[in-house]
Amino acid sequence: MTLRVAILISGGGSNMVKLVESMTGDHPARPVLVASNDPDAKGLERAASMGIAVASVDHRRFGGDRHAFETELQAVLDAAKPDIICCAGFMRILTAEFTGKWQGKMLNIHPSLLPKYKGLNTHARAIEAGDDEAGCSVHELTAELDGGPILGQSRVPILPDDTPETLAARVLVEEHRLYPRVLRNFAEEMVQKQ
Ligand code: GAR
Repeated sequence: MTLRVAILISGGGSNMVKLVESMTGDHPARPVLVASNDPDAKGLERAASMGIAVASVDHRRFGGDRHAFETELQAVLDAAKPDIICCAGFMRILTAEFTGKWQGKMLNIHPSLLPKYKGLNTHARAIEAGDDEAGCSVHELTAELDGGPILGQSRVPILPDDTPETLAARVLVEEHRLYPRVLRNFAEEMVQKQ
């Protein structure tokens, strides 16, 4: 059986591209949908050019009504019947009601060594704290922001002349390696349990 993967993005979608590219050959999953909360997200064009179905649910249409936004997002996802949802640079905070529906099936990548630096501006905060290493984490998404079980991490050194931008670029290279690896393991385990 082939698992169906939906990917949620908000921006450029470089992690999404790596996930899509990884799901070939004997990989137990295939991408079925890339969806964004921003209709102008560059990643949507990239996904469409790779032949993946795309959708957008513009959160601004709902004027802060998270429930209404998530109801529509849920409908878009339900139509694609995903077994796994990967958040890849998806920058909306999801309610407990939404995450509860997908618990155990929803992954996220975060650009820090969780549990350090949940939330935004992770690279600047790591540099400011004087840390000697940074990195990225893939975790299961739960109601707690950036707080679900960690499935994998990669580390990079913080160099003396690093800026948030140079560090982010180096961490992103590791994100592109880590996320496909974790997704594959996760999907293989899911198939074994079925
Ligand atoms: C990535 O660095 C990802 O870890 C981060 O946004 C970037 C998206 O880049 N995600 C978060 O900060 C989530 N809190 P991409 O669109 O090129 O994959």
